[in-house]
Amino acid sequence: MRPILFLTQPIPAPAIARLEEVFELNQNTSDTILSKAELIAGIGNADALLCLLTDSIDREVIDAAPRLRCISNYAVGYNNIDVEHATQKGIVVCNTPGVLTETTADLTWALLMSCARRIVESDRFLRQGRFTGWKPLLLLGNDIHGKTLGIIGMGRIGRAVARRASGFDMRILYYDPSVDKDSLPAEYEAVELDNLLKNSDFISIHVPLLPATHHLIGAREFALMKSNAVLINTARGPIVDESALIQALREGRIAAAGLDVYEQEPQVPQELIELENAVLLPHIGSASVETRTRMGLLAAENAIAVIQGRTPPARVN
Ligand code: DGY
Repeated sequence: MRPILFLTQPIPAPAIARLEEVFELNQNTSDTILSKAELIAGIGNADALLCLLTDSIDREVIDAAPRLRCISNYAVGYNNIDVEHATQKGIVVCNTPGVLTETTADLTWALLMSCARRIVESDRFLRQGRFTGWKPLLLLGNDIHGKTLGIIGMGRIGRAVARRASGFDMRILYYDPSVDKDSLPAEYEAVELDNLLKNSDFISIHVPLLPATHHLIGAREFALMKSNAVLINTARGPIVDESALIQALREGRIAAAGLDVYEQEPQVPQELIELENAVLLPHIGSASVETRTRMGLLAAENAIAVIQGRTPPARVN
């Protein structure tokens, strides 16, 4: 009998085909997020789980799967999984690092440029029929070139974002107490968080969501930022205190924010939606055909390796 893998939503076809070589698939074929009850029902006889960042794989869900040997997350972030409990039960947890780094860095820059040059606002303006001719003071944004980019978290994605800044002659500040400074270009400046917040024109977040990073950026931190600062978050929503962000944007405490993630996804506060100086995306950081396929193949290889008794390419615990 083939091992059973429970797949919580459709993923790119090449990954499904690879999974089918090894597993009997029990899959949710719709793109609706499963409820906890559905997760529990689906996981009952599974040997492996391939889940998404929207699936909360907590103690109760894990305990409903007596045969489970692998939780393969289709994401690099794994804050949706109770890793400690899985580890206690001998279940291997895997993720998809590396394959989405460049794509997420691309999107970070798309947000940064959109905010600086008011791209989305300008598009709305034109479509509303308000473009009545070139004007010296129409929709003025801020330059990007020559400015200071502050990166919070110099892991894979933070570095890829920093690398892209070289074409814009930017100064790079970074805050990451755990990074090996010698592994970074000498011109990047390691600073304390407050120093980064006070001196950056663009601030981009690239840390994982952990108890220590929850609300890392709140009212105190917004008060330190420059009034022309632009905050970009393509990491996880709860790293930023959303109410404090809304207040900072409303009061012009900072210039703009580009967000791909939110505190209570998929809910986005109406106050944020109404703000002209916020560019809001529906968590699409890794959403390119190539990258989502690579993520699927890596997630598949992770699950297959565990089931076949091999070391998976990307193990978390
Ligand atoms: C991740 O992988 O953690 C992203 O948020 C989705 O690609």
